[in-house]
Amino acid sequence: MFAARQSFNLFQKRAFSASASQASKVAVLGAGGGIGQPLSLLLKLNPRVSDLALYDIRGGPGVAADLSHINTNSSVTGYNPDAAGLDSCLKDAEIVLIPAGVPRKPGMTRDDLFNTNASIVRDLAKAAAKSAPNANILVISNPVNSTVPIVSEVYKAAGVYNPKRLFGVTTLDVVRASRFISQVQNTDPSNEKVTVIGGHSGVTIVPLLSQSNHASIAGEARDALVNRIQFGGDEVVKAKDGAGSATLSMAMAGARFAESLLRAAQGEKGVIEPTFVESPLFKDQGIDFFASKVELGPNGAEKIHEIGPVNEYEQKLIDACLVDLKKNIQKGVDFVKANP
Ligand code: NAD
Ligand code: LMR
Repeated sequence: MFAARQSFNLFQKRAFSASASQASKVAVLGAGGGIGQPLSLLLKLNPRVSDLALYDIRGGPGVAADLSHINTNSSVTGYNPDAAGLDSCLKDAEIVLIPAGVPRKPGMTRDDLFNTNASIVRDLAKAAAKSAPNANILVISNPVNSTVPIVSEVYKAAGVYNPKRLFGVTTLDVVRASRFISQVQNTDPSNEKVTVIGGHSGVTIVPLLSQSNHASIAGEARDALVNRIQFGGDEVVKAKDGAGSATLSMAMAGARFAESLLRAAQGEKGVIEPTFVESPLFKDQGIDFFASKVELGPNGAEKIHEIGPVNEYEQKLIDACLVDLKKNIQKGVDFVKANP
């Protein structure tokens, strides 16, 4: 019992090695789901979070009651759709994470989720634009390449759009890249930093192995690794066999991104995460959103980094990415224009 408690405390210290320096309310929309529950658990363990607000169309208060017994200082409140629950959940939030929406089943692409998830994200974005217009919005719901432009169009229509505060969470691609390369190279994944750029689906996911510790990886080994990073989500969808997609690894990735934003907001310098944001990098080609390394700060996305040197192979990956990404972004924009 003592050993278990000791190792739990050690986990908390290692995972979130800081004490809270200011009050930060974090809201999770879709908190009752496969991602929402473990994500909320990790946020409850984060001492930087002072208030955790959990909303779902079903189950928010139950998850909140359960988490509220964990002996960390943050308050946890659950909300249902009734009695202005969503607005109360969002009020004064510094970060809003959105994992609401349906996941894939085998044989589906992320784009196949568009018809269901586009309106879910649009409606949640409308509520956030009204009740938490200055919060950082972290979109997890797929297809991220389209749901992020949906949020931006909703915010523009509401007159509160701040591109520095809107993020598509692509951290899971970075986490996977780090783990998969460590398996191939037999190294410690915590030392493996792989920049992943582009978007979050199939060929729009572009890992830059030439900028990693293993720039010399080539040939079939490189092709297999890149393919695994691009289609890692499919592995989980297939293994879950109809019961959904990645939830636990996504919860870890979402909690890591939220933690990075909180660290940066609380004054830490040099906090950099690849993430899908409104970006100048390919605007001249009509592509307004792109994931690349972004330096975070008190104002959200402070600096969008250049892609840096890439080899011929990676340039071809980028070219293929841009074709799909442009269509995915336009689909999100068109949806809000046709269904405001
Ligand atoms: P899930 O079905 O287990 O949970 C979704 C939750 O959303 C449910 O609790 C549901 O009640 C809730 N919900 C539905 N409509 C809602 C609304 N209007 N308001 C509030 N809550 C609502 O699904 P999941 O496995 O948690 O996946 C959620 C989404 O995240 C999916 O779209 C999935 O594709 C996506 N995802 C993204 C990444 C990424 O890397 N960005 C990774 C994994 C999954
Ligand atoms: C993932 O990358 O695991 C998520 O986008 C979920 C999915 O549909 O694969």
